Amino acid sequence: MADSFIIDRSKSKAQQYADALTQLTFLTEDEQDWVANVSNVMACLKYGFGFFWVGVYLIKESELVLGPFQGPVACTRIKKGRGVCGTSWEQNKTLLVPDVDTFPGHIACSSDSKSEVVVPLRDKHNHVIGVFDIDSERLNDFDTDDQKGLEAIAHLLSKLLVN
Ligand code: SME
Repeated sequence: MADSFIIDRSKSKAQQYADALTQLTFLTEDEQDWVANVSNVMACLKYGFGFFWVGVYLIKESELVLGPFQGPVACTRIKKGRGVCGTSWEQNKTLLVPDVDTFPGHIACSSDSKSEVVVPLRDKHNHVIGVFDIDSERLNDFDTDDQKGLEAIAHLLSKLLVN
């Protein structure tokens, strides 16, 4: 159950993300409703890893529109090519941004956000359907182990979204 989602922060990052993926798969496998599943995944990630902001934006009528998230109030719509999220969508690739102030066009939903990872969410034809956005209030808080782990979670999210 959600209240037993536990991440041992003393383990390696790779192991923490592997443990998260196992628990999130178990948590969501018997539920078909994507809003319920993705909402719970965001709660697990926010409280398990202590991210500042974690959530999804989904493509609707040529814009990214805010979906289930945990953290401070966020911008509701982002255009293709705008900010880190819109650029990740346009380029169809993960963006790891150690200092958001150096990213051209970064959209500051909260001035407390300092570093960020954005991973595209894709359907089975590899088309982008949205993005998974993870923010930290610390500079340079994400490395390539976070990127790999978050990409694995994005794969699970993609499956939940297109179900
Ligand atoms: N910083 C993002 C916008 C989304 S919020 O951080 C939640 C961007 O530049 O796309």
